[in-house]
Amino acid sequence: MKTLVIVTHPSIETSRVNAAWLQELRKHSDITVHELYKAYPDENIDVEKEQQLIEAHDRVIFQYPIFWYSSPSLLKKWFDSVLQYGWAYGPDGSKTAGKEFGAAISTYGSAESYQPTGSNRFTLEEILRPIEATTQFISGTYLPHFALSDVSNLSDERLAKSTADYIKHIRGAVPVTVA
Ligand SMILES: Cc1cc2nc3c(=O)[nH]c(=O)nc-3n(C[C@H](O)[C@H](O)[C@H](O)COP(=O)(O)O)c2cc1C
Repeated sequence: MKTLVIVTHPSIETSRVNAAWLQELRKHSDITVHELYKAYPDENIDVEKEQQLIEAHDRVIFQYPIFWYSSPSLLKKWFDSVLQYGWAYGPDGSKTAGKEFGAAISTYGSAESYQPTGSNRFTLEEILRPIEATTQFISGTYLPHFALSDVSNLSDERLAKSTADYIKHIRGAVPVTVA
């Protein structure tokens, strides 16, 4: 199983959570780490290179901080430009078929806030539906997400535990089965 983690954080230098996760990922030589804002400071995505990266891996994790219930904009641009007709979908568009896709996210909001009765009203599963739906559209398999919430109340211990759990998740995630 070849795993690619696409990290999208516009200011990783000031990040606590994503930077800690990234630092840990780099210790694992069997996991490919690809930082979008570092690869494309001008936000000019090399589509062919990105497609080759996807083709070379079986499991792809999109790691990012939640921005306005969505992702930092460069990840949206990545979806818009990389998942092309004839490559990811459409006639002969089968390069993503059978690959696994999932999200690893950090949120300011607490776990309780991301509930129907909480201040954010919607669950993280619901907020991540665009990635789940996209995965389905490109014939991939959607993985359960990994999340760290309430990051403004984050002890070093909770961050360390989440970092260890994240690596376990990346290695052991089992696809979400559709009932
Ligand atoms: C532009 C912007 C929008 C944000 N939108 C949300 C949001 O919709 N929900 C949320 O829980 N946190 C939101 N946040 C907080 C970030 O998710 C949080 O700062 C980040 O997960 C912390 O991770 P880091 O330590 O790696 O930077 C937002 C932050 C920024 C800068």
